[in-house]
Amino acid sequence: MKSKTHFIFVLIFCISISSNTIHAAGVETKLVLNCGTEEAETDTEGRKWEPATKYLATQANSIGERALSQDPSLESTVPYMTARIFTAENSYKLPAKSNARHLLRLHFYPSTYGTVSQDDAYFSVTANGLTLLKNFSASITAKALTQAMIVREFSLAPTHSGELLLTFKPSDQHNGAYAFINGIELIEMPNLFGSALVIGSSGELMETNTANLQTMYRLNVGGNYIPATNDSLSRTWYDDSPYLFGASLGRALTNSSLPLKFSEISKSSAPEDVYTSWRAMTEDPKINENFNLTWVFQVDANFTYLIRMHFCEIVYSRINQRVFDIYLNNQTAYDAADVIGWTTSAAVPIHKDFVLYVKDEPGDDHLWVALHPDINSKPEFYDAILNGLEIFKMSEGESLAGPNPVLSDLLVKNEVRNKASQGKAPQQKDGVGVAHVAAGGAAAAVVAALCIVVYTRKNKIAGGESRTSSWLPIYSSSHSSGTKSTISGKSTNGSHVSTLAASLCRHFSLAEIKRATGNFNESQVIGVGGFGKVYRGVIDGDMKVAIKRSNPSSEQGVNEFQTEIEMLSKLRHRHLVSLIGFCEEDGEMALVYDYMHHGTLREHLYKSGKPQLSWKQRLEICIGAARGLHYLHTGARYTIIHRDVKTTNILLNENWIAKVSDFGLSKTGPSINRNHVSTVVKGSFGYLDPEYFRRQQLTEKSDVYSFGVVLFEVLCARPALNPNLTKEQVSLADWALHCQRKGTLEDIIDPHLKGKIVPQCLKKFAETAEKCLSDHGADRPSMGDVLWNLEFALQLQENSGNVTAGAPESDNSGSEEEPHRINPAVHMSTLSLGSDFDLNEKPEDDSVAIFSQIVDQKGR
Ligand SMILES: *[C@@H]1O[C@H](CO)[C@@H](O)[C@H](O)[C@H]1NC(C)=O
Ligand SMILES: *[C@@H]1O[C@H](CO)[C@@H](O)[C@H](O)[C@H]1NC(C)=O
Ligand SMILES: *[C@@H]1O[C@H](CO)[C@@H](O)[C@H](O)[C@H]1NC(C)=O
Ligand SMILES: *[C@@H]1O[C@H](CO)[C@@H](O)[C@H](O)[C@H]1NC(C)=O
Ligand SMILES: *[C@@H]1O[C@H](CO)[C@@H](O)[C@H](O)[C@H]1NC(C)=O
Ligand SMILES: *[C@@H]1O[C@H](CO)[C@@H](O)[C@H](O)[C@H]1NC(C)=O
Ligand SMILES: *[C@@H]1O[C@H](CO)[C@@H](O)[C@H](O)[C@H]1NC(C)=O
Ligand SMILES: *[C@@H]1O[C@H](CO)[C@@H](O)[C@H](O)[C@H]1NC(C)=O
Ligand SMILES: *[C@@H]1O[C@H](CO)[C@@H](O)[C@H](O)[C@H]1NC(C)=O
Ligand SMILES: *[C@@H]1O[C@H](CO)[C@@H](O)[C@H](O)[C@H]1NC(C)=O
Repeated sequence: MKSKTHFIFVLIFCISISSNTIHAAGVETKLVLNCGTEEAETDTEGRKWEPATKYLATQANSIGERALSQDPSLESTVPYMTARIFTAENSYKLPAKSNARHLLRLHFYPSTYGTVSQDDAYFSVTANGLTLLKNFSASITAKALTQAMIVREFSLAPTHSGELLLTFKPSDQHNGAYAFINGIELIEMPNLFGSALVIGSSGELMETNTANLQTMYRLNVGGNYIPATNDSLSRTWYDDSPYLFGASLGRALTNSSLPLKFSEISKSSAPEDVYTSWRAMTEDPKINENFNLTWVFQVDANFTYLIRMHFCEIVYSRINQRVFDIYLNNQTAYDAADVIGWTTSAAVPIHKDFVLYVKDEPGDDHLWVALHPDINSKPEFYDAILNGLEIFKMSEGESLAGPNPVLSDLLVKNEVRNKASQGKAPQQKDGVGVAHVAAGGAAAAVVAALCIVVYTRKNKIAGGESRTSSWLPIYSSSHSSGTKSTISGKSTNGSHVSTLAASLCRHFSLAEIKRATGNFNESQVIGVGGFGKVYRGVIDGDMKVAIKRSNPSSEQGVNEFQTEIEMLSKLRHRHLVSLIGFCEEDGEMALVYDYMHHGTLREHLYKSGKPQLSWKQRLEICIGAARGLHYLHTGARYTIIHRDVKTTNILLNENWIAKVSDFGLSKTGPSINRNHVSTVVKGSFGYLDPEYFRRQQLTEKSDVYSFGVVLFEVLCARPALNPNLTKEQVSLADWALHCQRKGTLEDIIDPHLKGKIVPQCLKKFAETAEKCLSDHGADRPSMGDVLWNLEFALQLQENSGNVTAGAPESDNSGSEEEPHRINPAVHMSTLSLGSDFDLNEKPEDDSVAIFSQIVDQKGR
């Protein structure tokens, strides 16, 4: 493992050295060019970007400019903060080896450059006559995808000219249009493409080695995000979970115990990590028999797509053990796929390519990939596997260009509001100013998170030019499991839910909801919150769900309902409670969630008479919850701050898997009054970060603080606040810290745990909790560190202290998906989270619940 990564490292190093000697015969092309500057600069990943100017066809018509402002979510200032602006057609003449395939990446950062506005950039880009982009607006595209910058990747078929003429041309349809580019990468690649099976034909093959392709999606299925620096062709591989469809996500597994044998395909097809991790179905053959492991992708209609599926069988080594069918857009692409049948032995990576035409008809702008066990071949295991997935758009005629995406109404409204407020709202010098800035940033994040690409059917019919253009990583995910329910924007007539969110979630009819809850029978109520009541329900015959019904008089209105759907439908993690769907009909609004069989963590700790959890169980639950929070903080595109971490918001499913609930909800985000700071401090007393309370500055470290309280609560089995106790003991955080510092913590731990915790484990656990409770956020560990420490504590417990120091095993083939960081530099957050109820919790009126009030700071 070590030596492999080392090898890649050396390889990248060698290639980047050779980039200076590009013209030398036999040397691979590897151009990494920074546009609009004369300086060679290094990005945050250590890649060196050379100035591009010397490749310009003419020095006229263009100018190098610096962006006026830097978006906080930009991962690196290089190459994004400088751009070349073209006011008329101009080209880069890039040396490219003839007869070789090249990867071309174009980097765009829409911003104000000099005096030109980002709204006026409309242009086309062609490469040796092939249209890559047309009437392209980087600004609209970035907004629609809520990304600061846009990277487009193309794989260009070999040419014979020894040169790539990359031409930028401002649109002549738009007054004052200009073109711009921030960075260009041109990397020679082996021709990894060959014959692909044409779906819908009778076994016809298509040669794709001369195809021009645009990368739409590139996923490390069942595995982690792989950054460009870890791929020999600097490709980026994303996690597949956001694209999974249906209630059952299968299992993400890894096993790197066997060395991979690249006997079938080139080693540069994908990094080894793609092949040592995969997604399989569940462990239960009966369940597997009845569902398809399905992914859904948005694509531009009217194009042909090349779908490359990567496989590597590591667990089995004989044929007919794992045999499955592959469906693409509901058509059988491959009947009885058997990876060992293809490779004859285990740990041999292979890929299968398919070609599929996506028609230009309503509803056909999605691409479905589904796997199902092939029952007919009577395999030993009813299971399916997929290791990696790449989807490329193939050029239609001489063009790869799709339309600009269409922005949702919400985004458009926000745009107007932002424009109107520019220049107003002068900054105060005192703390209010700080809070204001923080609130503004948070609001921007919320709005960004809400801005959604919408399919506008009307426009589509009229113009045919307004469909969604997908780009990686478009974070859409689906939670629908339905066969009966509609999964289409069309059904939400007059709905408040954006069409994409609607298309991602299952849409329930009111009749279905009524049936599920026995017509909202009071006996089904399992909780009450600000939003209304929460009911237990059953859908699809036997699937248990929790249904949150809006209370018509609730203070949470339409916006909150919408926000919850739009945020939750895009967040998905094994340790987050997931939204299955929603209902909006006749003024009724309801949200449907996974049912958590074992209820809240708190009810298993004290005051419920339920059986005690063992220490190991408690540790595993804490680790699960930490994973969920870590994902919220770093795994989504924006940092999401939970704001109300407590033991009643950690729910347990039938397998005692911890799931964080009540997250990512924004109360005031989209409608924030720009002239008034209305930061609503929300959270629960006993868990509230003192720094946040003092300074109104919300960071993810506030969640870390609350989680520290949870850890002590788990250890001591007492409420965060217990007013019955002496003054110094009322607050668990204060009391536990006091005891920990005096060395008397053992006296206050749960009597059921006495003597059952390995001392080193207790020490590690208590130290971790203590650090979480540090007064200053900066001194607290990140959620990732907390997770690491808890895993270490678990290891100490299990190995009874004979552990060798070091990291916990990370490749232990568990089904745990390690959350990853996509945008390291984002410091945004949601504003006000959560309705104040606990899913699955019985209404309770003890003092803790009374303390759990909203503190409204509006009138400050
Ligand atoms: C990338 O490679 C480095 C070593 O070169 C390794 O330490 C790191 O874990 C890898 N990251 C991922 C996400 O694979
Ligand atoms: C990993 O795969 C190997 C080879 O199939 C197998 O022997 C081993 O048990 C697997 N490891 C785990 C943890 O499943
Ligand atoms: C595939 O089937 C699903 C339902 O199983 C349907 O919602 C979807 O629209 C179909 N996709 C295509 C492209 O026909
Ligand atoms: C799986 O998908 C295929 C193609 O859409 C469909 O024909 C089949 O009925 C699905 N199977 C299940 C169990 O949903
Ligand atoms: C160019 O794109 C914009 C924004 O999507 C659109 O309004 C306009 O109609 C397009 N123009 C042409 C000529 O396609
Ligand atoms: C789809 O492609 C056909 C043929 O290439 C073309 O005639 C048609 O206008 C295209 N439709 C759209 C909406 O672009
Ligand atoms: C959609 O809403 C309009 C007005 O809001 C109504 O007249 C129409 O009947 C609705 N259509 C459906 C299919 O519900
Ligand atoms: C509510 O459910 C209970 C128990 O299932 C049942 O006895 C009662 O009749 C139901 N009430 C209504 C109004 O349906
Ligand atoms: C405090 O004492 C009252 C009366 O004994 C009891 O009902 C209540 O549950 C106690 N509260 C806590 C948090 O223990
Ligand atoms: C060390 O840990 C192993 C389990 O990993 C256990 O079997 C063994 O007894 C332990 N040895 C000691 C000395 O505690």
